[in-house]
Amino acid sequence: MSEVLRAEGLTRILPGAVPVTLVRDISLSIDHGEFVMIMGPSGSGKSSLLYLLGLLDAPTAGKVWLDGRDTSAFGEDELAELRLASLGFVFQFHFLLAEFSVLDNVLLPMHRLGSLPEEGRHARARQLLADLGLADQIHRRPDQLSGGQRQRVAIARAMANDPLVIMADEPTGNLDTASSRNVRDILSDFARNRGKTVLAVTHDPDFAQAGDRLIRLVDGRIASDGDTGTPDAAGMQLPTPPP
Ligand SMILES: Nc1ncnc2c1ncn2[C@@H]1O[C@H](COP(=O)(O)OP(=O)(O)OP(=O)(O)O)[C@@H](O)[C@H]1O
Ligand SMILES: [Mg+2]
Repeated sequence: MSEVLRAEGLTRILPGAVPVTLVRDISLSIDHGEFVMIMGPSGSGKSSLLYLLGLLDAPTAGKVWLDGRDTSAFGEDELAELRLASLGFVFQFHFLLAEFSVLDNVLLPMHRLGSLPEEGRHARARQLLADLGLADQIHRRPDQLSGGQRQRVAIARAMANDPLVIMADEPTGNLDTASSRNVRDILSDFARNRGKTVLAVTHDPDFAQAGDRLIRLVDGRIASDGDTGTPDAAGMQLPTPPP
C-alpha cells in the first residue's frame, strides 16, 4: 500500500501569556485505503490533530505531506484548493447550509472546484445521495431531515469531489444507535470497497471497532498506534512519554 498522508513532528502551540500546547511531536503515516480511528480523552488533542492533518490549521512545528506533496510551503489559496480537491470533512455538527436544498449542499463543493461540467455534477450528486439512501430527500432542506439523514448528507457533501481522504470528527457524536451504525457502515464501505482513506475521531468504542487501526492520544501525544482490537488499542494504560 502506498502512503497518502504523512505527518512529521507536528506540534501546535497557541501563543499567549500562557501558551497552550494542543498537540506535540506527532509523527504518523497513513496509507491509501486505511480506515483509521483516533480516540483519547476529552482535551487530548484529537480535533486539533485532525485540523492540522486536514490543512485547516497550521502547525507551530512539523510538516504534513498529502499524497506526496509537502504542504508546508503552500499559501492559503493553494491550501484551500488542495482541501477542496483532496479532502472531505464530516463534523459532529453537520454544518449544512440551512437555506439550501440537500442536493445543492452536495453540489456546492463541486461547483467551487469546477472539475465537472454541470450535468456531470448533478448526476454525481444524485448518485451519492442515492447511495446513502437519500434519493427521495434531495429537494428537502436540512432542517426537514432527521439527525442521521443530515449526517448522511454531510457525508455525501464530503465525498462530492471524490477526495483522497475523508476526515470525520465525532461523526456519530449526536446520533442514536441505529444512525451511528449506519454512518459507521457507510464510512467502512468507503474505505473497504471504494479505496478511500478514512480518518475518524470518536469516543464510541463500538464505532472504533469498525476501523483497521486505532491511534490513541493522551495529552497531545500519540500514546499508542496499532491494529484495532490489540490490548494497546483497547485502552491499556500506557505511560505517557516524558516531555
Ligand atoms: N482556541 C483554544 N484556546 C485555548 N485552548 C484550546 C483552544 N483550542 C483547544 N484548546 C485546548 O487544547 C486541548 C486540545 O483540544 P482538542 O479540541 O483538540 O481536544 P479533543 O481531544 O478534540 O477534545 P474533545 O474530545 O472534547 O473534542 C484542550 O485542552 C483544549 O482545551
Ligand atoms: Mg474534539
